[in-house]
Amino acid sequence: MTGQNAEWKLFKFLKVLLFSVIFLITVLFLVATVKTFTFDADAGLLLGKWENTTAISLHLSPQQRKNQLAHFKAAIQIPTVSFTETNVNTSALREFDALLRKVFPKVFSSSVVQHEMVGSYSHLLTVSGSEADLEPYMLLAHIDVVPADEADGWDAPPFSAQEINGFIYGRGTIDNKQSVMGILQALEYLLERGYTPRRSFYIGLGHDEEVNGLHGAVNIVKLLKSRGVKLQYVLDEGLAVLDGVISGLDGPAALIGISEKGQATVKLSVSSAPGHSSMPPRESSIGILASAVKRLEENPMPRLFGYGPERGMFEHLAHKFGLPLKFIMSNLWLFSPLLSRVLERKPDTNAFVRTTTAVTMFNSGVKVLELVESTVSDERVKVELVNGFDPLPISSYDEQAFGFQIIKKTVQSMFPQLTVAPGVCVGNTDSRHYKDITQDIYRFAPSWFKPGDPQRFHGVNERISIQNYEEIVQFYFQLIQNNDIRKLPPPHSSQHEL
Ligand SMILES: *[C@@H]1O[C@H](CO)[C@@H](O)[C@H](O)[C@H]1NC(C)=O
Ligand SMILES: *[C@@H]1O[C@H](CO)[C@@H](O)[C@H](O)[C@H]1NC(C)=O
Ligand SMILES: [Zn+2]
Repeated sequence: MTGQNAEWKLFKFLKVLLFSVIFLITVLFLVATVKTFTFDADAGLLLGKWENTTAISLHLSPQQRKNQLAHFKAAIQIPTVSFTETNVNTSALREFDALLRKVFPKVFSSSVVQHEMVGSYSHLLTVSGSEADLEPYMLLAHIDVVPADEADGWDAPPFSAQEINGFIYGRGTIDNKQSVMGILQALEYLLERGYTPRRSFYIGLGHDEEVNGLHGAVNIVKLLKSRGVKLQYVLDEGLAVLDGVISGLDGPAALIGISEKGQATVKLSVSSAPGHSSMPPRESSIGILASAVKRLEENPMPRLFGYGPERGMFEHLAHKFGLPLKFIMSNLWLFSPLLSRVLERKPDTNAFVRTTTAVTMFNSGVKVLELVESTVSDERVKVELVNGFDPLPISSYDEQAFGFQIIKKTVQSMFPQLTVAPGVCVGNTDSRHYKDITQDIYRFAPSWFKPGDPQRFHGVNERISIQNYEEIVQFYFQLIQNNDIRKLPPPHSSQHEL
């Protein structure tokens, strides 16, 4: 090393995060139970007051159920892996496209469905409704998966779709091919039964969600914008049904994600004064940076969320957030330990090595910078925000929130025992790209998670039970029909007044 002007720049993306774990954590936050949300459960859905639009029921013969499962397994067996933003398995994506066309012939030939490829491998389906004045909605899911290596300890090869004790094992079984196949299978069944929607809707299947959706979701949104499309709401992956995963919560809860975390990428740099190589400064620039990075690594999330000086601030600001953030913020004593436990788990799998990040927080970049600066606590280290985005706006979830109530009604009619509550999704999804064309983005599929299951996300032994896959098909089958009501029944409160 010569003693010339040395400016060391290091893009250090702290791996503090979770992404990986899309929801799991998620969970922690949300929490339905708590008294803040009981109103939600109590309000009820007044099912009797809803316009009846679910006239088509789904009865499947054993042979049809077998075929349905075979389609799903075939989808899991195609390794549609996204390695990096510029390296996705295009041959697998082409194969996947061919599979969809083969197993869902009605979807690809019906006169009410228009199909387009976007960004080469993503799919946009436009399903035209009979009543043009009803604002359309959109269902999202993604085709790509993160890498998986059998050597990490899988009980079955990750692209085998092997069946073990009623579960299908494989990468993509819960993230997110259950929704890709579930949505299209439901539409196929509806079309076979002569269904035409009243309310138009779109289906967007991204091919690069795991690496930010820059070719898929971003281009789908561009196309929709160019057509002047505004959406009533968007439903994407995200949260799920949690059963025994949140301690203290009795009984399973369906958590519908109404927001998701922001993200920040921070650059650290040190400029050292010119010197001479025979007289190196006692501390080199690289040394200064290295210790800064070390401090950040040694003080990850717990410091950044919930335990640092910001804790008081969050608690103080809590009343400025809508529920459920308010609830989380006012209960950091409860959520921080859970959060840090999740964070302790190293995101060992692949995709994240590259993504490394960032600081995930429910507030903006400025606050993130302050936290990084105070952790580094060395004035010679310059801290800059390279890029990032704020947390997503909170979607509505009151009695007049069309999408939220449709999802809730669908869930409750299938699973009357579930509590349904809003939650915050800590992972990011393709749906964040849709915020300019809709006010309301929801993140949910009725995948059931029991203790130990959240770790399967982007982890080993990702799996889904055969029964749960069938429920997911059923969910979309009902949901699509439930969307055909013209408007929600009048609010609960005014019913009482009448
Ligand atoms: C809705 O209508 C269909 C057919 O018109 C009927 O089979 C079904 O039972 C109705 N559902 C309810 C809840 O009334
Ligand atoms: C890409 O997908 C094809 C199947 O279409 C598969 O044979 C191949 O092994 C995959 N490549 C990688 C690098 O995973
Ligand atoms: Zn996903």
